[in-house]
Amino acid sequence: KQSPIIAPSILSADFARLGEDTARVLAAGGDWVHFDVMDNHYVPNLTMGPMVLKALRDYGISAHIDVHLMVKPVDRIVPDFARAGANSISFHPEASEHVDRTIGLIREAGCQAGLVFNPATPLNWLDHVLDKLDFVLLMSVNPGFGGQKFIPSALDKLREVRRRIDDSGRAIRLEVDGGVSADNIGAIAAAGADTFVAGSAIFNAPDYAAAISAMRAAIG
Ligand code: DX5
Ligand code: ZN
Repeated sequence: KQSPIIAPSILSADFARLGEDTARVLAAGGDWVHFDVMDNHYVPNLTMGPMVLKALRDYGISAHIDVHLMVKPVDRIVPDFARAGANSISFHPEASEHVDRTIGLIREAGCQAGLVFNPATPLNWLDHVLDKLDFVLLMSVNPGFGGQKFIPSALDKLREVRRRIDDSGRAIRLEVDGGVSADNIGAIAAAGADTFVAGSAIFNAPDYAAAISAMRAAIG
């Protein structure tokens, strides 16, 4: 298991002051920027595209940007996000026509590749591609909105993915996304996650630094 990463989801940031708010959450101790891309097609919400990511880079954000694609189709937007400055790109297997090809596209574009599992998406999508992945992202809410409640069955699923990653012997990160807070992050870490996305729990807190350090303390 790798050192813990906290990835604030800027879905819950102030979109009218996105650069400033992103810089603020990084200064408060966030490691990565989690960048949620929703298309009003694969998920019922519409957020931000490559131009917004590029604008954050131009503003001076140099942290790792972790692009979570909740879009369909997937492939044609991948090079655009890579060019805009993404470091990692994940996608939902059921949104891609050719999962292995999409993983290849992401890696050829110079980004780390991740596969995302909704609460009800079976893990057998991992069977033939695990050795090509840099990370696995487990959703602990249904994708589309911030501020939802953590679905407890995600913990069993986390343990199962942890087993598969350990069996592979490869340094694959295990990321969890949805309803993560200082109250449940200890149990989530114990179940095997090493990379933690949190949106509302950080951005709705009065003090980002306090919220992030409470999470780090709870990870242990
Ligand atoms: C949900 C997004 C999440 C979201 C998490 O579809 O993928 O990244 O921002 O927000 P919270 O932490 O509020 O559940
Ligand atoms: Zn996300």
